[in-house]
Amino acid sequence: MTAEEAARLVPNNAVCGIGGFPPAGAPKDVPTAIAKMAEQLHAEGKPYKINMYTGASTGETCDSLLAKAHAIGFRTPYQNKKDLRAEINSHGCDYFDMHLSEPAQDIRYGFMPKPEFAIIEACYVSNQGEIILTSGVGNVPTFCRLADKIIIELNSAFPQSMRGMHDIYIPLDPPERKEIPIYKPSDRIGDPVLHVDPSKIIAVVRTNHPNEVGKFTPMDEVTEKIGANVANFLFDEMKAGRIPATFLPLQSGVGNVANAVMRSLANNEHIPPFEMFTEVIQDSVIDLIKEGHVKFASGCSLTCSAEKMQEIIDNMGLFHDKLVLRPAEISNNPGLIRRMGIIAINTALEADIYGNVNSTHVCGTKMMNGIGGSGDFTRNAYLSIFTTQSTAKDGKISAFVPMVSHVDHSEHSVKVIVTEHGVADLRGKSPIQRAQEIINNCVDPVYRPMLQEYVNMSKVAQTPHTLSCALAMHEEFLKSGDMRNTKWENYLR
Ligand code: COA
Repeated sequence: MTAEEAARLVPNNAVCGIGGFPPAGAPKDVPTAIAKMAEQLHAEGKPYKINMYTGASTGETCDSLLAKAHAIGFRTPYQNKKDLRAEINSHGCDYFDMHLSEPAQDIRYGFMPKPEFAIIEACYVSNQGEIILTSGVGNVPTFCRLADKIIIELNSAFPQSMRGMHDIYIPLDPPERKEIPIYKPSDRIGDPVLHVDPSKIIAVVRTNHPNEVGKFTPMDEVTEKIGANVANFLFDEMKAGRIPATFLPLQSGVGNVANAVMRSLANNEHIPPFEMFTEVIQDSVIDLIKEGHVKFASGCSLTCSAEKMQEIIDNMGLFHDKLVLRPAEISNNPGLIRRMGIIAINTALEADIYGNVNSTHVCGTKMMNGIGGSGDFTRNAYLSIFTTQSTAKDGKISAFVPMVSHVDHSEHSVKVIVTEHGVADLRGKSPIQRAQEIINNCVDPVYRPMLQEYVNMSKVAQTPHTLSCALAMHEEFLKSGDMRNTKWENYLR
């Protein structure tokens, strides 16, 4: 049927499980049609919203259009679209942020309402309910198992030769849960296709759309330095015998810095070819596979630009042996991350001098994107690294502050912080030793005296703070637009 006909099957207030993972494999035409329908109904004075579980972020045609149409009731987990961010921060919809390994099991456990509809993208569906997904798996297996009705966008931009790229596996739930038998990133334990009850498929909509993933900006001087610092640090760890000569599987976060880090690891001749056990497989990973730097990549999605995705499709023979796509609760599974000794590299929005990290909230209040999988990996990794540029907004914001305005990753999980200036190794250090390590090695030189003064003026304690000044740099930014104007005496009470 048409997308418009399919959209009309989804009533006001429906709970929907949306396919894909940021934003690979997300449906496009049906959400667009739902957004249009919502706008028409709103114009007639009628209410219309859908409640959305996703894998992570979706594309412009899903999150952005639905947010602009004010058609979202609740939404979880990760998102990264300007329009949805605005809707969330103005309370136009209820957003709750979750570790990406958790929504599928939390829905199965009954902690949240079960989806009535699964709206997914596939490249093949049979009369028997055999489905081949496209570039992202996300939480689709659980959505399809629990939903009463399934709407499929059959996207001909993805060939059926994608069969075999997915490993569909839903763990048993407590008290029956068993060990998940993955011991290395390339292990396959599930089914290459998703099986659903065919009587639940109420619509199949034919589409032809490539991935809605933008191209990454090339490395600049700052991201190149961050990448080189990470690569040199990991090589030093190898030399010290703390990383085996065969290396350990890597997880790399989202964004331009993450892409630059991957490129720097490849450029470092001392780092041997390695495997990845990660959440998103970005463009850089595909290049690294072709060049032989990455031996195998396990992830939840191919978050690749349309161009890079086409390259994979054109060389499917090569990539079938080098890639596997898993549900988010497996790609981000805490037990597997701990078992395989993953080196996790994620990006912070801000960190404090004691090693707590904020990945999500600007100035402690406004949601940026969400925690994504960074918590799944950081808390359970062999080695948890955070990267960030030392400043943002042309130096007006320091990425390092006395106390983070929101905590996503605590001092107990954050082991290493890397900026363009250097590396702070926080392992085995007390809070005051960590502060010195961070100020000396990571903070922008302009902000070093300010943060050193903060430590010096704070009363001696396990974690020295002057509470009236702990968020003064944030307050100063909100007041004058520049953290460099912070004078502690203006905030001392
Ligand atoms: N305060 C306010 N704004 C800040 C800031 C701070 N401390 N630090 C950065 N910013 C702004 C930047 O100026 C930029 O703004 P712009 O979009 O207006 O240019 C924006 O935040 C993004 O910063 P950028 O340096 O481009 O970082 P990024 O694209 O690498 O994204 C995160 C950084 C933290 C937002 C992103 O990595 C994220 O969403 N992380 C959480 C999820 C995650 O880690 N997933 C990976 C698990 S697999």
